[in-house]
Amino acid sequence: MCRVVCLLAFVSVLGLAAEALDNGLALKPTMGWLHWERFMCNTDCEGDPDNCISERLYMQMADMMVKEGWKEAGYEYVCIDDCWPSRQRDAQGRLQADPKRFPRGIKKLADYVHSKGLKLGIYADVGKNTCAGYPGSLGYYETDAQTFADWGVDLLKFDGCYMDWTLLGEGYINMSKALNKTGRSILYSCEWPLYEWPFRKPNYTAIRETCNHWRNFNDVYDSWSSVKSILEWTASHQDIIVPSAGPGGWNDPDMLVIGNFGLSHDQQESQMALWAIMAAPLLMSNDLRNICPRSKELLQNRHIIDISQDPVGKQGYRSAKVDSFEVWERPLSKNRLAIAVLNNQEIGGPRGFVIRAAPGWKICDPKCNVTQILPQYKEMGVQTQQSKMVISVNPSGTALLTVTPFSSDFTGLHKLHWENTSIRHKHGTIL
Ligand SMILES: *[C@@H]1O[C@H](CO)[C@@H](O)[C@H](O)[C@H]1NC(C)=O
Ligand SMILES: *[C@@H]1O[C@H](CO)[C@@H](O)[C@H](O)[C@H]1NC(C)=O
Ligand SMILES: *[C@@H]1O[C@H](CO)[C@@H](O)[C@H](O)[C@H]1NC(C)=O
Ligand SMILES: *[C@@H]1O[C@H](CO)[C@@H](O)[C@H](O)[C@H]1NC(C)=O
Ligand SMILES: *[C@@H]1O[C@H](CO)[C@@H](O)[C@H](O)[C@H]1NC(C)=O
Repeated sequence: MCRVVCLLAFVSVLGLAAEALDNGLALKPTMGWLHWERFMCNTDCEGDPDNCISERLYMQMADMMVKEGWKEAGYEYVCIDDCWPSRQRDAQGRLQADPKRFPRGIKKLADYVHSKGLKLGIYADVGKNTCAGYPGSLGYYETDAQTFADWGVDLLKFDGCYMDWTLLGEGYINMSKALNKTGRSILYSCEWPLYEWPFRKPNYTAIRETCNHWRNFNDVYDSWSSVKSILEWTASHQDIIVPSAGPGGWNDPDMLVIGNFGLSHDQQESQMALWAIMAAPLLMSNDLRNICPRSKELLQNRHIIDISQDPVGKQGYRSAKVDSFEVWERPLSKNRLAIAVLNNQEIGGPRGFVIRAAPGWKICDPKCNVTQILPQYKEMGVQTQQSKMVISVNPSGTALLTVTPFSSDFTGLHKLHWENTSIRHKHGTIL
């Protein structure tokens, strides 16, 4: 009896996320592909027909998603970013696709994507113009929402350029209502907090009621420094943003750039592991027609995707920084825990990191089962509170593990104990 009461008390102390936008979508972090980081605003279909923003690009990505196992792995949305529209609205004030680059129009493109069992995402802006200067939706929220619904669009990424910041909330809320009014379920991806942070702390309760995910920080670039800056921003704001994530609404640290040019393989593993820990949307921006097999295998790794898509939907957080390692944890269903250990020392070779249960770290009392997922899959087997596990992590790489408790009365999170790693180096044991 007491156990039930204690458990309930514990859950309420942890704090359930506020009400999510009630459109039945994004109960797990969105998975798909989004053109921006890789293809940007390339409109030169004469000079660069294979890489320009055109209906062909999305049709080819949809083909690849089905043919190459992406859809089966869970990637579902094929998303258009900026630079798709014509510079002018039509005579009825509706947005229209650029007629040269989208000769068949968005509705036909949506039909094509749907015929593959996938969903189509589109892009617009809460302000006067999109970031690249195309027509914005300010003053046209209902018209644009209805246009997207008529076309059969499934997701809207709504940017925040060219908008008076004091009206951001109103604009994002009005568009959310306009989407609802169409009666079509359209996943709503916002950038409200990103554009509000320079002026004041955003109201995440209101954001969660309005949007299915929301960008908080700068655009991701194809570089390790960019990925690192996003992780650092997230960790340094985690007390504010982590509680707002949960089924129906997620913090969005921007696209996965895995499979491009700027990240080493270890860094790609770090991005994948930590995006899963952060319960982030997994929106790849890469060229699925030409991607290296190791990057593909990483992006389709079902153990990592299982962590990302865990049904409890709690976002992880950084729990320790020690000796140029960062430790991140994410609570999973069935009282399991995912742990990521990032080696931030960008010099030298692999370094060992010791994981040992602290007294009171109940997840391994009396026993737990540990599985390493990155850098390679390895069942580390049954451990006890006395166990000491040493994992090897490459510079700017990440080791990812899951811990499954055996005890039936384990009721929640208990921080791991981080041994001073410079002492442990002298032991030199790597399991
Ligand atoms: C619109 O909102 C209502 C109430 O919040 C909800 O029940 C309904 O499912 C929503 N409809 C769509 C299409 O999102
Ligand atoms: C939002 O909608 C309200 C009510 O219709 C309106 O008064 C307000 O001007 C709108 N704000 C924006 C930014 O569109
Ligand atoms: C934040 O938004 C919520 C929901 O819209 C509202 O109830 C609350 O008063 C707002 N908080 C602040 C500090 O404005
Ligand atoms: C530990 O986990 C692994 C991976 O899920 C599983 O194959 C193995 O059977 C588990 N061991 C025990 C003792 O439950
Ligand atoms: C770790 O141990 C070394 C060697 O004993 C010591 O110099 C260092 O200050 C310790 N670091 C921390 C973070 O405790």
